[in-house]
Amino acid sequence: MSKINVAILGATGMIGQRFVQMLEDHPYFEIEGLYASERSNGKRLSEVLKVRDHVYLDETLDREIETMDISKISKNCRIAFSGIPSDLAGPTETELAQAGVGVFTNAGSHRMDADVPILIPEVNPAHLDSVKDQKTFANGGFIVTNANCSSTGIAAPLAAMNDAFGLKQVFISTYQALSGAGYPGVPSLDAVGNVVPFIKGEEEKMESELAKMLGTYDNGAFNFAGFKVMANCARVPVIDGHLESLVIDMEAQPTLEELERCLVEYRGEPQKYNLPSAPEQPIIVRHEDNRPQPVFDAMAGKPARAKGMAVTVGRLRQSNGYYKMFAMSHNTLRGGAGGSVLNAELAKAKGLI
Ligand SMILES: NC(=O)c1ccc[n+]([C@@H]2O[C@H](COP(=O)([O-])OP(=O)(O)OC[C@H]3O[C@@H](n4cnc5c(N)ncnc54)[C@H](OP(=O)(O)O)[C@@H]3O)[C@@H](O)[C@H]2O)c1
Repeated sequence: MSKINVAILGATGMIGQRFVQMLEDHPYFEIEGLYASERSNGKRLSEVLKVRDHVYLDETLDREIETMDISKISKNCRIAFSGIPSDLAGPTETELAQAGVGVFTNAGSHRMDADVPILIPEVNPAHLDSVKDQKTFANGGFIVTNANCSSTGIAAPLAAMNDAFGLKQVFISTYQALSGAGYPGVPSLDAVGNVVPFIKGEEEKMESELAKMLGTYDNGAFNFAGFKVMANCARVPVIDGHLESLVIDMEAQPTLEELERCLVEYRGEPQKYNLPSAPEQPIIVRHEDNRPQPVFDAMAGKPARAKGMAVTVGRLRQSNGYYKMFAMSHNTLRGGAGGSVLNAELAKAKGLI
């Protein structure tokens, strides 16, 4: 089977380098080019490395970064994986889709567009149908987004509980890693030994994106889920992995055993199609009193290609009719590049590319 040519946009950034990690030896996709701004033109990947916990292939480290060139990308690539800033991503991704490229993006600019899905393959695979309604794009071009990194991590547990027991309200507090702010991100003097209880736009994004993701796509329109989401977001001095505290009000009152079973048995289309980057078990439940933790659980997920793609949940409790738990996921893998790669694998399985 010949591989599909793909471009990586923002290849010098936190998300872009996770794309390179996930795609350097991918069974379906071949990296055609690594693109960033003019500032990075001609540098080798080895000179601009940001990811420290992955050993890249020598030939990958030797590849040159090029200035982003929409006409070259649209001529040579069926897919662009995007990890560029939102203000630039809006027009760039539209232009690529108009030129016939399938865009899988981490940027926020198109997430709330009326015909663009925020796709999490386990949770809302039917939302991929909206791509066929993106009439402004030609020659097979389209845009598929994934959610912001804090919404992605809890989307699967919330979907599992919503399907089984009906969600009424969800109160969320986040403890978000520094890599979520991109590179170089939060100044070190603000971050070290500190917690910053503000991440611009994050709470609003969580409240709107979760409702879109957990809603339905019928007759050419997204119908938003009806449960309430209230979020407080904070940045903590952790490198990778967002921890989130959840207090949940549900229609039904399952026992904790029933709740745990619904989480650990949750599966979706990525597992059915056995997609290369799909975790065998998308939600892992831990029983230790002090888990999940970023240092132990950010890289959860099997097989090896799906490391960092599972969500870990722990400290399941019931109190005054509410359910309490912590959830944790890797923000630049499951919540970033890995999510987009899984979206593209699902799109291929469904014959869209
Ligand atoms: N970090 C996360 O956990 C996370 C999670 C989900 C979504 N996202 C979203 O993903 C996107 C990338 O985030 P990030 O954290 O990877 O940011 P980042 O580390 O700041 O990387 C930004 C990338 O964009 C490139 N870029 C900037 N200006 C450009 C231009 N004019 N032309 C071409 N390329 C340009 C940069 O290249 P140069 O090095 O050449 O400047 C760099 O490669 C953002 O939209 C972000 O909101 C991030």
